[in-house]
Amino acid sequence: MEIETLLSPHKSAMRALVEAIIAEQGLHAGFYWPKDLLGAEMATAEAVGVFEDGQLAGFVLYRELPTAWEISLVATHPQFRRRRLMEALLKHLIAAKGQEKELWLEVHIENVAAQKLYEKLGFRLSGRRPRYYKDGATALLYSCP
Ligand SMILES: CC(C)(COP(=O)(O)OP(=O)(O)OC[C@H]1O[C@@H](n2cnc3c(N)ncnc32)[C@H](O)[C@@H]1OP(=O)(O)O)[C@@H](O)C(=O)NCCC(=O)NCCS
Repeated sequence: MEIETLLSPHKSAMRALVEAIIAEQGLHAGFYWPKDLLGAEMATAEAVGVFEDGQLAGFVLYRELPTAWEISLVATHPQFRRRRLMEALLKHLIAAKGQEKELWLEVHIENVAAQKLYEKLGFRLSGRRPRYYKDGATALLYSCP
């Protein structure tokens, strides 16, 4: 397993990974990343990825804000799930942000797998946004000190 900053040459692999997730579970409210939105986010966000045998297995998009790093996308390729690769990648980000900043993200209330991941890593529920998603569902806000 290797963790690397992702740059422009990695964008096609990031797109393919997101397409594999959409092929698996559909383009639903809790993972709403159509091509245009993904392209716009990749153009402006920071990206870090985890590789297995040279293949991009997972990645995170995030923004470095003055008081926190805010994660917008967390994705592991369906073929690489449950190998603790995203756990390793998020631990890397938690260490990289430094102690003076928090890490923030939001998650669809029905995405239990992601919630378990964040809670395992020490994220705490910091708020809720009712009717946040296109399907009317609540967003759970998590922060990691
Ligand atoms: C959520 C997601 C990123 C997890 O990635 P992953 O690489 O499979 O996760 P890891 O193997 O690193 O899991 C680490 C921990 O997270 C939790 N976890 C991960 N997937 C889980 C699942 N399906 N059910 C329950 N807990 C889960 C477990 O606590 C696990 O620790 P354990 O191995 O000791 O049980 C992945 O399922 C995914 O990409 N889903 C689709 C996209 C998505 O929902 N992104 C998040 C939107 S906010």
